[in-house]
Amino acid sequence: MTTNSPTDQYTFGMIGLGTMGRNLLLNMADHDFAVAGYDKNPAQSELLEKDGAGKIVKGFTELEPFVKSLKTPRSIMMLVPAGPIVDSVIAELVPLLDKGDIIIDGGNSHFTDTTRRDGELAKQGFHFFGMGISGGEEGARHGPSMMPGGDKTAYLTVEPVLTAVSAKVNGDPCVTYIGPGASGHFVKMVHNGIEYAIMQLLAETYEVMRKGLKMSNADMHEVFSGWNAGRLQSFLLEVTADIFAYTEPGASDILLDGIKDEAKSKGTGKWTSQIAMDLVTPVSAIDSAVSMRDLSKYKTERVEASKLYDTEYAGLDVDKDAFLIELEQAYYFAMIVAYAQGMHLLHSASAQYGYDLNLESISKIWRGGCIIRSTFLETMMEAYGINPDLKHLLLSPAVSDIINETQPGIRSVVGAAVMLGIALPTYATALSYFDAFRSADMPANLIQAQRDYFGAHTFERIGQDGVFHAQWQGDQAQP
Ligand code: 6PG
Repeated sequence: MTTNSPTDQYTFGMIGLGTMGRNLLLNMADHDFAVAGYDKNPAQSELLEKDGAGKIVKGFTELEPFVKSLKTPRSIMMLVPAGPIVDSVIAELVPLLDKGDIIIDGGNSHFTDTTRRDGELAKQGFHFFGMGISGGEEGARHGPSMMPGGDKTAYLTVEPVLTAVSAKVNGDPCVTYIGPGASGHFVKMVHNGIEYAIMQLLAETYEVMRKGLKMSNADMHEVFSGWNAGRLQSFLLEVTADIFAYTEPGASDILLDGIKDEAKSKGTGKWTSQIAMDLVTPVSAIDSAVSMRDLSKYKTERVEASKLYDTEYAGLDVDKDAFLIELEQAYYFAMIVAYAQGMHLLHSASAQYGYDLNLESISKIWRGGCIIRSTFLETMMEAYGINPDLKHLLLSPAVSDIINETQPGIRSVVGAAVMLGIALPTYATALSYFDAFRSADMPANLIQAQRDYFGAHTFERIGQDGVFHAQWQGDQAQP
Protein backbone atom coordinates (compact mmCIF):
# COMPACT_ATOMS: atom_id res chain seq x y z
CA MET A 1 0.00 0.00 0.00
CA THR A 2 1.22 3.46 -0.79
CA THR A 3 1.88 5.34 2.38
CA ASN A 4 -0.45 8.20 3.32
CA SER A 5 -2.92 6.85 0.76
CA PRO A 6 -6.68 7.30 1.25
CA THR A 7 -8.51 4.18 2.38
CA ASP A 8 -11.79 3.41 4.10
CA GLN A 9 -9.95 0.93 6.22
CA TYR A 10 -8.20 3.01 8.83
CA THR A 11 -8.25 1.17 12.15
CA PHE A 12 -8.06 4.12 14.47
CA GLY A 13 -8.98 7.79 14.24
CA MET A 14 -7.69 10.75 16.24
CA ILE A 15 -9.39 14.11 16.66
CA GLY A 16 -6.93 16.81 17.68
CA LEU A 17 -3.44 16.59 16.23
CA GLY A 18 -1.57 18.64 18.80
CA THR A 19 1.55 17.20 20.39
CA MET A 20 -0.19 14.38 22.26
CA GLY A 21 -2.66 13.38 19.54
CA ARG A 22 -0.08 13.42 16.75
CA ASN A 23 2.52 11.48 18.70
CA LEU A 24 0.09 8.84 19.90
CA LEU A 25 -1.14 8.34 16.35
CA LEU A 26 2.43 8.04 15.07
CA ASN A 27 3.10 5.50 17.81
CA MET A 28 0.13 3.47 16.51
CA ALA A 29 1.47 3.75 12.96
CA ASP A 30 4.85 2.48 14.20
CA HIS A 31 2.99 -0.64 15.29
CA ASP A 32 1.56 -1.09 11.78
CA PHE A 33 -1.94 0.16 12.46
CA ALA A 34 -3.50 2.17 9.65
CA VAL A 35 -4.45 5.46 11.29
CA ALA A 36 -6.23 8.67 10.40
CA GLY A 37 -6.13 12.03 12.13
CA TYR A 38 -8.37 15.07 11.98
CA ASP A 39 -7.56 18.65 12.87
CA LYS A 40 -9.19 21.81 11.53
CA ASN A 41 -5.76 23.34 11.30
CA PRO A 42 -4.16 22.20 8.00
CA ALA A 43 -0.67 22.75 9.45
CA GLN A 44 -1.30 20.05 12.06
CA SER A 45 -2.65 17.58 9.56
CA GLU A 46 0.32 18.24 7.22
CA LEU A 47 2.75 17.76 10.10
CA LEU A 48 1.14 14.42 10.90
CA GLU A 49 1.62 13.19 7.34
CA LYS A 50 5.17 14.54 7.21
CA ASP A 51 6.16 12.85 10.48
CA GLY A 52 4.31 9.71 9.43
CA ALA A 53 6.05 9.42 6.06
CA GLY A 54 6.59 5.76 5.20
CA LYS A 55 3.67 4.65 7.39
CA ILE A 56 -0.07 4.29 6.85
CA VAL A 57 -1.09 7.66 8.20
CA LYS A 58 -3.65 10.04 6.74
CA GLY A 59 -4.44 13.57 7.85
CA PHE A 60 -7.85 15.21 7.34
CA THR A 61 -9.07 18.78 7.79
CA GLU A 62 -12.76 17.87 7.26
CA LEU A 63 -14.60 15.78 9.82
CA GLU A 64 -16.95 13.83 7.56
CA PRO A 65 -14.37 12.25 5.21
CA PHE A 66 -12.26 11.49 8.27
CA VAL A 67 -15.15 9.60 9.90
CA LYS A 68 -16.03 7.80 6.66
CA SER A 69 -12.44 6.64 6.27
CA LEU A 70 -12.58 4.53 9.45
CA LYS A 71 -13.37 0.84 9.81
CA THR A 72 -16.63 0.12 11.62
CA PRO A 73 -17.32 -0.11 14.46
CA ARG A 74 -15.21 3.02 14.53
CA SER A 75 -12.68 3.74 17.25
CA ILE A 76 -12.17 7.49 17.52
CA MET A 77 -10.09 9.20 20.17
CA MET A 78 -10.30 12.88 21.04
CA LEU A 79 -7.21 14.59 22.36
CA VAL A 80 -8.51 18.11 22.77
CA PRO A 81 -8.44 20.46 25.78
CA ALA A 82 -10.69 19.31 28.62
CA GLY A 83 -13.92 21.22 29.16
CA PRO A 84 -16.57 22.58 26.76
CA ILE A 85 -14.44 21.78 23.68
CA VAL A 86 -14.95 18.06 24.35
CA ASP A 87 -18.73 18.58 24.28
CA SER A 88 -18.61 20.59 21.07
CA VAL A 89 -16.44 17.97 19.34
CA ILE A 90 -18.87 15.23 20.43
CA ALA A 91 -21.82 17.28 19.13
CA GLU A 92 -20.17 17.63 15.71
CA LEU A 93 -19.14 13.99 15.60
CA VAL A 94 -22.28 12.19 16.69
CA PRO A 95 -24.44 12.87 13.57
CA LEU A 96 -21.71 11.24 11.46
CA LEU A 97 -21.44 8.04 13.52
CA ASP A 98 -23.18 4.66 13.47
CA LYS A 99 -24.51 2.88 16.53
CA GLY A 100 -21.83 0.81 18.23
CA ASP A 101 -19.02 3.22 17.39
CA ILE A 102 -16.56 4.00 20.19
CA ILE A 103 -15.57 7.53 21.20
CA ILE A 104 -12.56 7.84 23.51
CA ASP A 105 -11.76 11.00 25.44
CA GLY A 106 -8.00 10.78 26.02
CA GLY A 107 -7.71 14.16 27.76
CA ASN A 108 -7.72 15.07 31.43
CA SER A 109 -11.49 15.57 31.68
CA HIS A 110 -13.18 15.88 35.03
CA PHE A 111 -14.66 12.48 35.83
CA THR A 112 -18.13 13.91 36.46
CA ASP A 113 -18.16 15.26 32.88
CA THR A 114 -17.20 11.77 31.71
CA THR A 115 -20.05 10.23 33.70
CA ARG A 116 -22.49 12.67 32.07
CA ARG A 117 -21.13 12.14 28.56
CA ASP A 118 -21.14 8.36 29.02
CA GLY A 119 -24.82 8.47 29.99
CA GLU A 120 -25.81 10.79 27.14
CA LEU A 121 -23.93 8.79 24.48
CA ALA A 122 -25.04 5.38 25.76
CA LYS A 123 -28.68 6.51 25.27
CA GLN A 124 -27.84 7.21 21.63
CA GLY A 125 -26.20 3.80 21.15
CA PHE A 126 -22.53 4.83 21.30
CA HIS A 127 -19.76 3.62 23.58
CA PHE A 128 -17.86 6.32 25.40
CA PHE A 129 -14.50 5.82 27.06
CA GLY A 130 -12.79 8.23 29.40
CA MET A 131 -9.17 7.27 29.18
CA GLY A 132 -6.37 8.82 31.20
CA ILE A 133 -3.08 8.93 29.29
CA SER A 134 0.12 9.68 31.11
CA GLY A 135 3.65 10.22 29.94
CA GLY A 136 3.65 13.53 28.11
CA GLU A 137 5.00 13.91 24.59
CA GLU A 138 7.69 11.26 24.96
CA GLY A 139 5.22 8.77 26.43
CA ALA A 140 2.67 9.35 23.67
CA ARG A 141 5.32 8.77 21.01
CA HIS A 142 7.09 5.78 22.52
CA GLY A 143 4.82 4.23 25.14
CA PRO A 144 2.41 5.86 27.60
CA SER A 145 0.56 4.42 30.55
CA MET A 146 -3.15 4.39 29.79
CA MET A 147 -6.20 4.14 32.04
CA PRO A 148 -9.35 3.35 30.00
CA GLY A 149 -12.76 3.16 31.67
CA GLY A 150 -16.08 2.33 30.04
CA ASP A 151 -18.00 -0.59 28.58
CA LYS A 152 -15.84 -3.71 28.84
CA THR A 153 -17.00 -5.37 25.63
CA ALA A 154 -16.26 -2.22 23.68
CA TYR A 155 -12.85 -2.09 25.32
CA LEU A 156 -11.94 -5.39 23.68
CA THR A 157 -12.26 -3.69 20.27
CA VAL A 158 -9.58 -1.15 21.08
CA GLU A 159 -7.45 -3.34 23.35
CA PRO A 160 -5.05 -4.61 20.62
CA VAL A 161 -4.15 -1.04 19.59
CA LEU A 162 -3.77 0.22 23.16
CA THR A 163 -1.74 -2.79 24.24
CA ALA A 164 0.61 -2.43 21.28
CA VAL A 165 1.36 1.25 21.84
CA SER A 166 1.58 1.26 25.64
CA ALA A 167 4.80 1.28 27.61
CA LYS A 168 6.00 -2.19 28.66
CA VAL A 169 7.60 -3.26 31.91
CA ASN A 170 9.16 -6.72 31.79
CA GLY A 171 6.93 -7.34 28.76
CA ASP A 172 3.74 -6.34 30.61
CA PRO A 173 1.72 -3.59 28.90
CA CYS A 174 1.04 -0.43 30.90
CA VAL A 175 -2.63 -0.43 30.03
CA THR A 176 -5.53 -2.36 31.47
CA TYR A 177 -9.29 -2.10 31.59
CA ILE A 178 -9.85 0.06 34.67
CA GLY A 179 -13.59 -0.31 35.22
CA PRO A 180 -16.99 1.04 34.19
CA GLY A 181 -18.10 4.62 33.62
CA ALA A 182 -15.66 7.36 34.46
CA SER A 183 -13.25 5.13 36.41
CA GLY A 184 -10.42 5.68 33.90
CA HIS A 185 -10.54 9.44 34.29
CA PHE A 186 -10.93 9.12 38.06
CA VAL A 187 -7.79 7.00 38.29
CA LYS A 188 -5.86 9.41 36.05
CA MET A 189 -6.98 12.33 38.23
CA VAL A 190 -5.61 10.59 41.32
CA HIS A 191 -2.41 9.76 39.42
CA ASN A 192 -2.03 13.50 38.86
CA GLY A 193 -2.79 14.25 42.51
CA ILE A 194 0.06 11.94 43.51
CA GLU A 195 2.19 13.62 40.82
CA TYR A 196 1.52 17.02 42.43
CA ALA A 197 2.53 15.72 45.88
CA ILE A 198 5.77 14.12 44.68
CA MET A 199 6.73 17.21 42.65
CA GLN A 200 6.14 19.37 45.72
CA LEU A 201 8.21 17.02 47.89
CA LEU A 202 11.07 17.40 45.43
CA ALA A 203 10.64 21.18 45.49
CA GLU A 204 10.76 21.14 49.29
CA THR A 205 13.87 18.93 49.16
CA TYR A 206 15.46 21.58 46.93
CA GLU A 207 14.49 24.23 49.49
CA VAL A 208 16.14 22.31 52.34
CA MET A 209 19.24 21.66 50.25
CA ARG A 210 19.74 25.23 49.07
CA LYS A 211 18.65 27.16 52.18
CA GLY A 212 19.55 24.65 54.87
CA LEU A 213 22.64 22.96 53.45
CA LYS A 214 23.70 25.84 51.18
CA MET A 215 24.25 23.42 48.33
CA SER A 216 25.06 24.50 44.78
CA ASN A 217 23.07 23.41 41.73
CA ALA A 218 25.91 21.10 40.78
CA ASP A 219 25.84 19.48 44.24
CA MET A 220 22.08 19.05 44.05
CA HIS A 221 22.37 17.49 40.61
CA GLU A 222 24.85 15.02 42.01
CA VAL A 223 22.75 14.11 45.05
CA PHE A 224 19.50 13.74 43.08
CA SER A 225 21.30 11.63 40.46
CA GLY A 226 22.80 9.46 43.19
CA TRP A 227 19.40 8.92 44.81
CA ASN A 228 17.94 8.06 41.43
CA ALA A 229 20.48 5.29 41.05
CA GLY A 230 19.17 3.66 44.23
CA ARG A 231 15.85 2.66 45.77
CA LEU A 232 14.29 6.08 45.10
CA GLN A 233 14.57 5.64 41.35
CA SER A 234 11.70 7.39 39.62
CA PHE A 235 10.89 9.44 36.56
CA LEU A 236 10.25 12.61 38.55
CA LEU A 237 13.56 12.29 40.40
CA GLU A 238 15.40 11.71 37.13
CA VAL A 239 13.78 14.79 35.60
CA THR A 240 14.66 16.83 38.69
CA ALA A 241 18.30 15.71 38.62
CA ASP A 242 18.53 16.73 34.94
CA ILE A 243 17.06 20.17 35.64
CA PHE A 244 19.89 20.98 38.06
CA ALA A 245 22.43 20.47 35.28
CA TYR A 246 20.65 22.15 32.38
CA THR A 247 21.84 25.35 30.74
CA GLU A 248 20.37 26.64 27.51
CA PRO A 249 22.65 26.60 24.49
CA GLY A 250 24.92 29.64 24.70
CA ALA A 251 23.95 30.43 28.31
CA SER A 252 26.23 30.12 31.30
CA ASP A 253 23.68 29.92 34.11
CA ILE A 254 21.43 27.01 34.99
CA LEU A 255 18.03 27.72 33.41
CA LEU A 256 16.22 26.88 36.67
CA ASP A 257 17.68 29.98 38.34
CA GLY A 258 16.00 32.18 35.72
CA ILE A 259 12.51 30.69 36.05
CA LYS A 260 9.83 32.63 37.98
CA ASP A 261 8.82 30.96 41.25
CA GLU A 262 5.08 30.98 40.48
CA ALA A 263 3.61 27.55 39.73
CA LYS A 264 0.74 27.04 37.31
CA SER A 265 -1.71 24.15 37.15
CA LYS A 266 -4.55 22.83 35.04
CA GLY A 267 -6.75 21.56 37.86
CA THR A 268 -6.32 17.82 38.30
CA GLY A 269 -4.55 18.17 41.67
CA LYS A 270 -7.28 20.49 42.96
CA TRP A 271 -9.98 18.10 41.75
CA THR A 272 -8.29 15.26 43.61
CA SER A 273 -8.37 17.24 46.85
CA GLN A 274 -11.96 18.34 46.28
CA ILE A 275 -13.23 14.81 45.66
CA ALA A 276 -11.16 13.43 48.53
CA MET A 277 -13.04 15.79 50.86
CA ASP A 278 -16.36 14.62 49.41
CA LEU A 279 -15.35 10.99 49.90
CA VAL A 280 -14.13 11.63 53.48
CA THR A 281 -10.70 10.34 52.57
CA PRO A 282 -7.81 12.60 53.63
CA VAL A 283 -5.07 13.23 51.08
CA SER A 284 -3.15 15.88 53.00
CA ALA A 285 0.07 15.61 50.97
CA ILE A 286 -1.89 16.35 47.79
CA ASP A 287 -3.82 19.18 49.49
CA SER A 288 -0.53 20.67 50.63
CA ALA A 289 0.97 20.45 47.15
CA VAL A 290 -2.04 22.24 45.66
CA SER A 291 -1.90 24.91 48.39
CA MET A 292 1.81 25.55 47.84
CA ARG A 293 1.33 26.01 44.08
CA ASP A 294 -1.43 28.47 44.95
CA LEU A 295 0.66 30.30 47.56
CA SER A 296 3.49 30.65 45.06
CA LYS A 297 1.22 32.83 42.92
CA TYR A 298 1.11 35.54 45.62
CA LYS A 299 4.55 36.82 44.68
CA THR A 300 3.95 40.49 45.50
CA GLU A 301 2.65 39.68 48.97
CA ARG A 302 5.51 37.22 49.57
CA VAL A 303 8.08 39.83 48.63
CA GLU A 304 6.41 42.33 50.98
CA ALA A 305 6.31 39.78 53.81
CA SER A 306 9.96 38.87 53.26
CA LYS A 307 10.83 42.47 54.19
CA LEU A 308 8.64 42.38 57.28
CA TYR A 309 9.93 39.12 58.70
CA ASP A 310 13.49 37.98 59.09
CA THR A 311 14.31 35.59 56.25
CA GLU A 312 18.02 35.14 56.74
CA TYR A 313 18.68 31.44 56.82
CA ALA A 314 21.62 30.65 59.03
CA GLY A 315 22.10 27.25 57.47
CA LEU A 316 21.75 23.94 59.24
CA ASP A 317 24.36 23.19 61.83
CA VAL A 318 24.65 19.53 60.86
CA ASP A 319 27.04 17.03 59.36
CA LYS A 320 26.06 17.47 55.70
CA ASP A 321 26.65 13.88 54.59
CA ALA A 322 24.78 12.44 57.57
CA PHE A 323 21.89 14.88 56.99
CA LEU A 324 21.68 13.92 53.32
CA ILE A 325 21.24 10.30 54.37
CA GLU A 326 18.34 11.39 56.57
CA LEU A 327 16.93 13.50 53.74
CA GLU A 328 16.96 10.48 51.44
CA GLN A 329 14.99 8.56 54.08
CA ALA A 330 12.62 11.48 54.58
CA TYR A 331 11.88 11.70 50.88
CA TYR A 332 11.23 7.97 50.64
CA PHE A 333 8.89 8.09 53.64
CA ALA A 334 6.91 11.09 52.39
CA MET A 335 6.71 9.77 48.83
CA ILE A 336 5.20 6.53 50.14
CA VAL A 337 2.65 8.50 52.17
CA ALA A 338 1.69 10.40 48.97
CA TYR A 339 1.11 7.13 47.10
CA ALA A 340 -0.72 5.66 50.12
CA GLN A 341 -3.11 8.62 50.31
CA GLY A 342 -3.85 8.42 46.59
CA MET A 343 -4.48 4.68 46.78
CA HIS A 344 -6.72 5.17 49.80
CA LEU A 345 -8.78 7.59 47.73
CA LEU A 346 -9.04 5.01 44.93
CA HIS A 347 -10.18 2.45 47.51
CA SER A 348 -12.95 4.80 48.69
CA ALA A 349 -14.00 5.78 45.17
CA SER A 350 -14.16 2.15 44.11
CA ALA A 351 -16.76 1.45 46.77
CA GLN A 352 -18.64 4.74 46.40
CA TYR A 353 -18.96 4.73 42.60
CA GLY A 354 -18.99 0.95 41.99
CA TYR A 355 -15.77 1.11 39.95
CA ASP A 356 -14.53 -2.22 41.32
CA LEU A 357 -10.94 -1.05 40.96
CA ASN A 358 -8.10 -3.56 41.01
CA LEU A 359 -5.35 -1.70 42.86
CA GLU A 360 -2.73 -4.30 41.95
CA SER A 361 -3.43 -3.79 38.23
CA ILE A 362 -3.38 -0.02 38.63
CA SER A 363 0.00 -0.19 40.41
CA LYS A 364 1.19 -2.46 37.63
CA ILE A 365 0.30 -0.11 34.78
CA TRP A 366 1.84 2.84 36.62
CA ARG A 367 5.25 1.13 36.70
CA GLY A 368 6.07 2.33 33.18
CA GLY A 369 5.21 5.18 30.83
CA CYS A 370 3.55 7.48 33.35
CA ILE A 371 4.84 10.48 35.26
CA ILE A 372 4.69 8.80 38.70
CA ARG A 373 6.52 5.62 37.66
CA SER A 374 9.06 4.54 40.23
CA THR A 375 10.83 1.49 41.59
CA PHE A 376 8.60 1.67 44.67
CA LEU A 377 5.60 0.71 42.50
CA GLU A 378 6.95 -2.85 42.42
CA THR A 379 6.54 -2.97 46.21
CA MET A 380 3.09 -1.36 45.95
CA MET A 381 1.99 -3.84 43.29
CA GLU A 382 3.18 -6.75 45.43
CA ALA A 383 1.38 -5.37 48.49
CA TYR A 384 -1.96 -5.32 46.64
CA GLY A 385 -1.15 -8.67 45.00
CA ILE A 386 -0.67 -10.31 48.41
CA ASN A 387 -3.79 -8.67 49.80
CA PRO A 388 -6.26 -7.35 47.18
CA ASP A 389 -8.52 -6.14 50.02
CA LEU A 390 -5.77 -4.06 51.62
CA LYS A 391 -7.65 -1.11 53.15
CA HIS A 392 -4.62 1.17 53.27
CA LEU A 393 -1.13 0.85 51.84
CA LEU A 394 0.43 1.71 55.22
CA LEU A 395 -1.10 -1.51 56.57
CA SER A 396 1.07 -3.64 54.28
CA PRO A 397 3.87 -5.38 56.21
CA ALA A 398 6.36 -4.77 53.38
CA VAL A 399 5.53 -1.06 53.34
CA SER A 400 5.62 -0.80 57.14
CA ASP A 401 9.19 -2.16 57.06
CA ILE A 402 10.26 0.76 54.85
CA ILE A 403 8.26 3.29 56.88
CA ASN A 404 9.83 2.09 60.13
CA GLU A 405 13.30 2.28 58.63
CA THR A 406 12.90 5.78 57.17
CA GLN A 407 10.92 7.32 60.05
CA PRO A 408 13.97 8.62 62.00
CA GLY A 409 15.13 10.45 58.88
CA ILE A 410 11.91 12.36 58.31
CA ARG A 411 11.63 13.33 61.99
CA SER A 412 15.12 14.73 61.92
CA VAL A 413 14.64 16.63 58.63
CA VAL A 414 11.24 18.11 59.51
CA GLY A 415 12.46 19.07 63.00
CA ALA A 416 15.61 20.76 61.73
CA ALA A 417 13.87 22.62 58.90
CA VAL A 418 11.07 23.86 61.15
CA MET A 419 13.61 25.22 63.65
CA LEU A 420 15.36 27.07 60.85
CA GLY A 421 12.14 28.48 59.35
CA ILE A 422 12.33 26.56 56.07
CA ALA A 423 8.89 25.71 54.68
CA LEU A 424 8.35 22.04 54.05
CA PRO A 425 4.62 21.60 54.59
CA THR A 426 4.24 18.48 52.46
CA TYR A 427 6.94 16.62 54.36
CA ALA A 428 5.44 17.81 57.64
CA THR A 429 1.91 16.81 56.75
CA ALA A 430 3.05 13.41 55.48
CA LEU A 431 4.69 12.79 58.85
CA SER A 432 1.74 14.10 60.89
CA TYR A 433 -0.72 12.12 58.80
CA PHE A 434 1.31 9.02 59.56
CA ASP A 435 1.49 9.86 63.26
CA ALA A 436 -2.28 10.31 63.41
CA PHE A 437 -2.99 7.25 61.26
CA ARG A 438 -0.96 5.03 63.56
CA SER A 439 -2.71 6.41 66.67
CA ALA A 440 -5.17 4.00 68.25
CA ASP A 441 -6.44 7.02 70.17
CA MET A 442 -6.80 10.34 68.36
CA PRO A 443 -7.92 13.48 70.22
CA ALA A 444 -11.22 13.47 68.30
CA ASN A 445 -13.07 12.78 71.57
CA LEU A 446 -12.40 16.44 72.42
CA ILE A 447 -13.85 17.57 69.07
CA GLN A 448 -17.00 15.61 69.84
CA ALA A 449 -17.21 17.11 73.31
CA GLN A 450 -16.78 20.65 71.92
CA ARG A 451 -19.45 20.05 69.27
CA ASP A 452 -21.87 18.80 71.84
CA TYR A 453 -21.00 21.62 74.27
CA PHE A 454 -21.80 24.50 71.93
CA GLY A 455 -24.20 22.89 69.47
CA ALA A 456 -25.80 19.88 71.18
CA HIS A 457 -24.51 17.75 68.30
CA THR A 458 -24.33 14.66 70.56
CA PHE A 459 -21.54 12.14 71.04
CA GLU A 460 -21.07 8.39 71.40
CA ARG A 461 -19.63 6.75 74.52
CA ILE A 462 -16.94 4.12 74.76
CA GLY A 463 -18.53 0.76 75.62
CA GLN A 464 -22.14 2.00 75.51
CA ASP A 465 -24.56 2.05 72.58
CA GLY A 466 -26.56 5.13 71.66
CA VAL A 467 -25.94 8.83 71.25
CA PHE A 468 -25.71 11.24 74.16
CA HIS A 469 -25.91 14.91 74.93
CA ALA A 470 -24.45 16.49 78.06
CA GLN A 471 -25.49 19.59 80.00
CA TRP A 472 -21.88 20.77 79.90
CA GLN A 473 -22.48 23.74 82.16
CA GLY A 474 -24.33 21.84 84.80
CA ASP A 475 -26.23 18.57 84.80
CA GLN A 476 -25.39 15.05 83.74
CA ALA A 477 -25.35 13.68 80.21
CA GLN A 478 -28.78 12.96 78.63
CA PRO A 479 -29.21 9.72 76.69
C1 6PG B 1 0.75 13.09 32.67
C2 6PG B 1 0.65 14.48 33.22
C3 6PG B 1 -0.07 15.36 32.26
C4 6PG B 1 0.20 16.81 32.51
C5 6PG B 1 -0.47 17.35 33.71
C6 6PG B 1 0.10 18.67 34.11
O1 6PG B 1 0.33 12.20 33.38
O2 6PG B 1 1.28 12.94 31.56
O3 6PG B 1 -0.03 14.46 34.44
O4 6PG B 1 -1.42 14.98 32.29
O5 6PG B 1 1.56 17.03 32.60
O6 6PG B 1 -1.83 17.48 33.41
O7 6PG B 1 -0.75 19.17 35.03
P1 6PG B 1 -0.63 20.60 35.61
O8 6PG B 1 -0.56 21.56 34.44
O9 6PG B 1 -1.86 20.75 36.41
O10 6PG B 1 0.64 20.62 36.40
